[in-house]
Amino acid sequence: MSLRPILIHPDPRLKKRCAPVESITPEIGKLAEDMLETMYDAPGVGLAAPQVGVLARLFVMDCVKEEGVAPRPMVLINPEIVSTSDEVNTYEEGCLSIPEHYAEVTRPARVVMRWTGLDGARQEEEFDGLWATCAQHELDHLDGRLFIDHLGAIKRGMITRKMAKLKREKARG
Ligand code: NI
Repeated sequence: MSLRPILIHPDPRLKKRCAPVESITPEIGKLAEDMLETMYDAPGVGLAAPQVGVLARLFVMDCVKEEGVAPRPMVLINPEIVSTSDEVNTYEEGCLSIPEHYAEVTRPARVVMRWTGLDGARQEEEFDGLWATCAQHELDHLDGRLFIDHLGAIKRGMITRKMAKLKREKARG
């Protein structure tokens, strides 16, 4: 396993619609392992393939936060939403591609998702709480959407300008 560099917004690769994973090759297995390691190292609760520069429909997540509870690393390949609740939930979201910026985003409180696992089996599960927020945030990434795209234009522009400035400063060293 190895850590992969995480792309920082603004980056055109974070705005692309990703292509379905056609078959679960050893390369995809390695990518998923690397993404989990990169996510835990960051640390974060979710990471989508485009965030490491791979434009494929795959994300990883683990929203277990309780002390003493075993981690639950999940790999979701070609995920899709089957249904969402009418009830909504507002969470303060962040993103490993937009470090140090957080904002409240309102999304359906529960979501049923279907995806393919690394073993090739199709799976379906209902997520709620942080899991539901995270799953929808990560699925957004696969369609080139960031959490700031759920905010108003003024707030989004402010964060994007700050991030662009930070990237320029980093590039200069
Ligand atoms: Ni994100």
